[in-house]
Amino acid sequence: MRVVSGIQPTGNLHLGNYLGAIKKWVAMQDQMECLFFLADLHAITVNNDPAELSANTREMAAALIASGVDPEKAILFNQARVPGHAELAWILFCTARIGWLNRMTQFKEKSGKNREGASVGLFAYPVLQAADVLIYGATHVPVGEDQKQHLELARDIATKFNADFDVDLFTLPDPIIEGPATRVMSLRDGAAKMSKSDPSDLSRVNLTDDDDVITKKIKKAKTDPEPLPDNMAELETRPEALNLVSIFAALTGSTTDKVLTQFAGQGFGAFKPALAECTVETLRPIRTRFIELKNDHDQLDALLQKGAEKARAIAAPTLQGAYDALGLLTD
Ligand code: TYM
Repeated sequence: MRVVSGIQPTGNLHLGNYLGAIKKWVAMQDQMECLFFLADLHAITVNNDPAELSANTREMAAALIASGVDPEKAILFNQARVPGHAELAWILFCTARIGWLNRMTQFKEKSGKNREGASVGLFAYPVLQAADVLIYGATHVPVGEDQKQHLELARDIATKFNADFDVDLFTLPDPIIEGPATRVMSLRDGAAKMSKSDPSDLSRVNLTDDDDVITKKIKKAKTDPEPLPDNMAELETRPEALNLVSIFAALTGSTTDKVLTQFAGQGFGAFKPALAECTVETLRPIRTRFIELKNDHDQLDALLQKGAEKARAIAAPTLQGAYDALGLLTD
């Protein structure tokens, strides 16, 4: 069993990333072999500023460690330091079909009206993501709901490659999309995902927000005037309320049902301060540790280098297996 997952080093870590993915990574590192990486090669599929990318990569490494990813337990690295990701991606470009990529909803969202002007990298991005997990023989990939389609594609690519070349090279990875926070929504709009790219900072809680800012954002979160219901069926018809209850459940390691049992009949005047308090209490130690770590570039670089060395060793046999399967001559 091997866990693999990644995060793009673009801007801040927010509560959606933390609850949808990172918190699960931290729990899994005690149970299985884990590889976690900063997807810097994914970040260059859209316009990027080189100085910002290096700074963001180190900052995201600091943010992950501050959140509890332990480089002694999990292998932590940045993708660019393991050239096998890009090498395998090229091979898999020749397995993936254009029709499969045409169905990817994230490409449609990210390219918007300017499809013709989007980079080839943005279109091909899910194939690199497939390479990211297949190269390590990942069995489990903990992610938020938005990555489901990309992982289904990774399974399709693996199946086709194994069948085309009559090999048993690639393991089919299982996405792990569980718990109450697989899709944390914007605090301003219950129909939009909490995201780094939302122009409104009030839409998300950032790891770097201080206690007052977090409290203010939760206080201003969009809600409805009704008290909280006592059942999920009713909650599910109220997207903003459902989002806040789900966040509370994820932060406290509870379930939405139990949160409703606790708060049924109470209005947001009572619920929001309780939510703000547990968000603040969760993020405060992470923020403190992040601030201590983020400027120690030497330590962060050394950690990422060490992680990459281990990752390269695990990746090598699968990559060689792919070259061999294709009849490519290598030394
Ligand atoms: P990224 O950087 O957008 O997000 C990192 C992780 O956070 C999850 N996430 C969320 N979960 C719940 N609610 C939200 N609002 C929310 N926003 C983000 C994402 O699902 C993800 O798990 N393509 C990936 C990075 C990647 C990757 C991989 C992941 C590259 N290669 C291989 C897994 C395996 C991405 O852009 O995630």
